[in-house]
Amino acid sequence: MRNIITIFGSTGDLTIRKLLPAIKRLLEEKLLEKDTLVLAIGRRNYQTVEYLDFVKKNSPHKFDVDFIAPNLEYFKLDIDALSDYQRLNEKIQSYGETRRVFYLAVGPDLLTSIASNIGLSNLVTKGDLNASITFEKPFGQDLISAREINGLLWQYFDEKQLYRIDHYLGKEMIQNILTVRFANKIFEGSWHNHAIKNVKIIAKETDTILSRAGYYDTSGALKDMVQSHLLQMLALVAMEVPLSYQSEDLKNEKVKVFDKLRYDRKSLVIGQYEGYLNEPNIDQDSKTETFVFLKAFVDTPRFKGVPFYLMTGKALEEKESVIIIEFEETPEQHKWDLPLKTNKLYIKIAPLDGISLTLNSKVPGLRNDVEQVDLEYCIACNAVGNMPEAYEKLILDMTEHHKSLFTRWDEIELSWQFIDKIKQDIKDKQIPLTIYKKPSDLYDLITEKEEAF
Ligand code: BG6
Repeated sequence: MRNIITIFGSTGDLTIRKLLPAIKRLLEEKLLEKDTLVLAIGRRNYQTVEYLDFVKKNSPHKFDVDFIAPNLEYFKLDIDALSDYQRLNEKIQSYGETRRVFYLAVGPDLLTSIASNIGLSNLVTKGDLNASITFEKPFGQDLISAREINGLLWQYFDEKQLYRIDHYLGKEMIQNILTVRFANKIFEGSWHNHAIKNVKIIAKETDTILSRAGYYDTSGALKDMVQSHLLQMLALVAMEVPLSYQSEDLKNEKVKVFDKLRYDRKSLVIGQYEGYLNEPNIDQDSKTETFVFLKAFVDTPRFKGVPFYLMTGKALEEKESVIIIEFEETPEQHKWDLPLKTNKLYIKIAPLDGISLTLNSKVPGLRNDVEQVDLEYCIACNAVGNMPEAYEKLILDMTEHHKSLFTRWDEIELSWQFIDKIKQDIKDKQIPLTIYKKPSDLYDLITEKEEAF
């Protein structure tokens, strides 16, 4: 059946930087059928050639539009005009039986009106599994608004037709977490609070908010990164063995983690990089946090008592996303008068995907010194050709109706509950916002509170 991928927001950053290059790669690798059609929806009065020119000019990576040109058509549509959606529907109907993905690469302000018009014009009818709606976070601003948005979506579509994107789930090493955990006896056997001392989930960025003031100032690091990416990583680390690796079973286990998640208010550190208030379009009194650190706990028998340290921020010293699992000392380790270290498993997500494990090892030679050694596997270094981008995997999965890497409503609901509680505490307990010139301003504060970090 022919695939039609309709992209709303076709002149936006996400489409130009991520979606079109990902579709192009999938076509090149023949993972998408040759007759796949991309309908780029926009309000501007472009012909397809002009649109492709626009993409070429605005693409930061000199995206070669020629390859995708035969598969792409620009379609002008006014997002508030129902008749335009009907026109679009007629066009799509003219291709006969098709598999249709409607990708809403638009801001949260447009999401609900586009989704309702898609429903009202029967572009997607409820329950038709050959038609799906895909959209990006933020799924609301808090639990109440997320429920409203979801209620509206459920009015027109079935949950099975909704694909909520968390692009971190498409990243190679995040997909690999469950394999590392459950397919390796050494980890599977020690993945619990008797053997794990703490877990660190870190996503540091050097970038500032770039040109996203409008969105970011109403969001902040808690909503932008913790509610989605960091909590998803936490769930994959903390969940129980699922009944199967089918989407629903995986999600059932993730939801149980969110249900048992709490945080320690005293650990909370929020920061804002110096200069944030001088960014264009930022309110001079803005208290939006661009950095968060907190200690959370998952009160399940497996992980009770194990601190999960979450940290994310912008304008930091490096771009790094990593999960660090620190194991307990062995009983012998305490008896020996040697500088032994704990074992640490690093699940490296960015900049280079990979895994490393630190061990204590005797220094070669005649003396009895020990040193810490690393067993390192760099996936990106060993991969032949380019590593697939998260969006390639996600687009491919949505055209094939694989939902494991997309989030279900109850996950979103519980993660908002967690974030809302923190937001409320920040307000009620007047948690101070640290203005940081350099990241060490924050790191010192954190180690004062949490020695183990
Ligand atoms: C996005 C956030 O979801 O993730 C951005 O909105 C952030 O603020 C980005 O920069 C980080 O993603 P990645 O893949 O670069 O780690």
